[in-house]
Amino acid sequence: MNMLRNTPEPEEGFWLPFTAMRAFHDAPVLFERAEGMHYITPSGQRVLDMMAGLWCVNAGHAHPRVTEAIREAAGKLDFVSSFRMSHPAAFTFARRLLDAVPMMGRVFFSNSGSEAVDTALKIARAYHRARGDAGRTKFIGRAKSYHGVGFGGLSVGGLARHKKEFGPLLADVFHMPLPHDPAQRFLTSRPAEDARWMQALEDILFVQDPSTVAAIIVEPVTGSGGVYPPPLGYLEGLRAICDRHGILLIFDEVITGFGRLGACTASQALGVTPDIMTMAKGLTNGAVPMGATLVTQAVFDAFMAHPRGAPEFLHGYTYSAHPLACAAGMATLDAYQQEGMFEASARIAEPFRDALLALRGAPHVVDVRTCGLLAAVDLASREGAPGARGAEVADHCLAAGVLVRAAGDMMVLSPPLVVSEDQVAQTVKALRQALAATA
Ligand SMILES: Cc1ncc(COP(=O)(O)O)c(C=O)c1O
Repeated sequence: MNMLRNTPEPEEGFWLPFTAMRAFHDAPVLFERAEGMHYITPSGQRVLDMMAGLWCVNAGHAHPRVTEAIREAAGKLDFVSSFRMSHPAAFTFARRLLDAVPMMGRVFFSNSGSEAVDTALKIARAYHRARGDAGRTKFIGRAKSYHGVGFGGLSVGGLARHKKEFGPLLADVFHMPLPHDPAQRFLTSRPAEDARWMQALEDILFVQDPSTVAAIIVEPVTGSGGVYPPPLGYLEGLRAICDRHGILLIFDEVITGFGRLGACTASQALGVTPDIMTMAKGLTNGAVPMGATLVTQAVFDAFMAHPRGAPEFLHGYTYSAHPLACAAGMATLDAYQQEGMFEASARIAEPFRDALLALRGAPHVVDVRTCGLLAAVDLASREGAPGARGAEVADHCLAAGVLVRAAGDMMVLSPPLVVSEDQVAQTVKALRQALAATA
């Protein structure tokens, strides 16, 4: 089934993340090059990348601006620490990022989404401590959310299967339910407002005492847990409850950042501003690892109340604001802005939604959810073999030259923002054929 089985068998030695190693070596999938919307295999086959790599190559692969910027930066400044020194491009990039997301006030750089999240959680606790409120240490996350693999992100994340090998995790973390009603399927727009979700949060706060809660963290749109758009009024409701109780609101925009919802961030697209925002992935178009944690000016100012002289936030990474990442980030912003990519994403969101919703009635399909340029197609699981059907459908699509992601029996799509309607149609056709060919 897998058209890439004929690639040369890779050497053993590399332990792949989130991968069944023995199954991988039975059917290795290797890509050697990439350009625009496509990956290219070692034997020269082109594969349409409907996942933007792993939700990150939003401007399309090997974007010439980004490639050139990295090349130039590498020849100029290979590395400089950002501990008590830095380099000009770090400040320029931070400023440009804040110009694009003007409701935030400062940027703290890291190297991944997981680091951006752990940084956000540490900022939240330290913020309250800086304001003389050291009793606020609890975090509230949400079912089905994914916040990376650090112990902090894992703790606030809402996917039990990711956690069960690694406990004990952070204490004092609580989870709200996913704001999703399984009876509502194949929706064409965001779910209606529903008081149940705010009540569920109020119930947690009633038991936990809101004055002990440091922060609530959510993905504005649940991403890898299954593309669940927020019901109308939901994010506004979280904002109001946080304001009422002095709790910080963290939006994890690692997936929703950089055009997925037709604006730079989901926060801007949906009109709700968090106190802290995390980014990664599309920040550098996936070309150089980088994460960023953005805070409002008010959050930053609380740290600046510390006595002068000592570091106000004892946290950071060797590669924070790495010169290559800053160069890639600025060139990526240029591509998004000068080539109108957020607008392109907004334009294609509706045809994308309609094309995917047309899978209603195809074999095994039990729900389709889209939000901007994100989509999940839920399949019924095969009796006694959860995940098997999803994997087979993904294999069929790959054989047809289309890369989609199977998360268990859910097919996930997150194409580059430059995807065309023809490429969406090609994908839906491949999915339809794969579903028909799968038992
Ligand atoms: C919402 C969200 N947060 C955090 C992360 C972790 O990012 P990384 O894999 O770069 O550590 C991810 C990764 O998919 C994510 O989707």
